Amino acid sequence: MGFAAIILAAGKGSRMNSSRPKVMHQLAGAPLIDHVLHNAEEAGAERLIVVVGYGSEEVEHHLDGRAETVMQATQNGTGDATLHAKEKLADFQGDAVVLYGDGPFVYPETIAAALEKRASGADLVIVGFDAPDPTGYGRLIMDGDTLEAIVEEKDCNDDQKAVTLCNLGVVSAPAPLLFELLAEVGNNNANGEIYLTDIVAIAWRKGLNCGVVLCDPSEAAGVNSRVQLAEAEASFQARARTEAMENGTTLVAPETVFFALDTYVGADVLIEPNVVFGPGVTVENGAHIKAFCHLEGCHISEASVVGPFARLRPGAEVGAFGKVGNFVEIKNAVIGKGAKVNHLSYVGDAEIGAESNIGAGVIFCNYDGVFKHHSTLGERVFVGSNSALVSPVYIGDDALIGTGSVVTKDVPAGDLVLARGNKSTKKAAANG
Ligand code: UD1
Ligand code: CA
Repeated sequence: MGFAAIILAAGKGSRMNSSRPKVMHQLAGAPLIDHVLHNAEEAGAERLIVVVGYGSEEVEHHLDGRAETVMQATQNGTGDATLHAKEKLADFQGDAVVLYGDGPFVYPETIAAALEKRASGADLVIVGFDAPDPTGYGRLIMDGDTLEAIVEEKDCNDDQKAVTLCNLGVVSAPAPLLFELLAEVGNNNANGEIYLTDIVAIAWRKGLNCGVVLCDPSEAAGVNSRVQLAEAEASFQARARTEAMENGTTLVAPETVFFALDTYVGADVLIEPNVVFGPGVTVENGAHIKAFCHLEGCHISEASVVGPFARLRPGAEVGAFGKVGNFVEIKNAVIGKGAKVNHLSYVGDAEIGAESNIGAGVIFCNYDGVFKHHSTLGERVFVGSNSALVSPVYIGDDALIGTGSVVTKDVPAGDLVLARGNKSTKKAAANG
């Protein structure tokens, strides 16, 4: 189903009290805009057009070419924002679906349902939901099965205000029809804005058939303030935890585990309490994440054990059956198959071969104050406790580094290194 998604993201979000654009606020480790792009992509969008405005540099920098952008310099309303995509879609005859950048929970299935209804004969389709509390939403005014108009809360009369059927913020229509209807929208409303929602009444007057697809009210959770952002986080996490458990992950205390939008967790993974997943984490089958770990941008292989109290930073890779223990920090480093870094270590910019053992308190000194350097350890290397490896160094297979060594030069395979001060004992001076 190749459709064009038009994502409206020009607003500042005045109730956020922030200098950053609303769609750049983080939900589950990713800006709001990423959630909307993700949902559009999952639904099969062929084009992604983001309408940017306030803070456009920040949004465009973040998007980094993942979507086309158009600039709406003045925020004259959702209809005006949508019209800004017209030129980009001049030759596009397929369906356009308009999505709001501050609505992260409009799921792919709902977008697909709107497109299906369109394909089955509706000229345009709106998604609605039955709101427990309709305050703030546009109301759907029905004429039998056909939608007659959407009236924004500020423009509602008392009868309309009592309507609980509300506008989610998804419009699906053939792109040419969408822009044709938008061309007729005025700004005669309480806000003096060009409303996207006004195309419904125009379509109705033209005798077009505007269908409605219903969705779960939870999908309407938008983010208009920081309080709503926190509520959105809570509901994202609740759903992600349930999904993880249903997919075969054990969560000992689900309410204390925090996932990111793109977290991948395989089957039979055991996650103990208080684990935070930042962006970009993949965990393979049978891994065990012990309590109090912070993980981001890392890969945890099959049957490995991480934590308790481990910090894995971007580029950390724990090999199958590997072990990363308490108070260990790993950044941009590969821990080979079955290798162990069990206690109080920092491993940065390194590769550690299979079955190697890194003793307690070992530090990879990867930074000389100006540049970062990389070290490589072969297989079955043993690094004694409290050693410092001053990168760049290469340590061959089966080498043994004695406790407390400061290693500044390469070590050939199989060698023993002792690089520490020799013990010297002075006799106590005789009393008297
Ligand atoms: C909108 C709908 C309302 C619906 C509700 C669902 C309209 C007129 N109203 O109201 O019917 O029930 O969403 O949450 O569409 N934007 C722009 N440029 C603009 C104005 C807005 O890009 O000129 C963007 C905003 O950044 C935001 C989105 O469009 O991401 C929605 O705008 P917002 O002002 O939040 O609309 P609501 O008042 O929530
Ligand atoms: Ca909104």
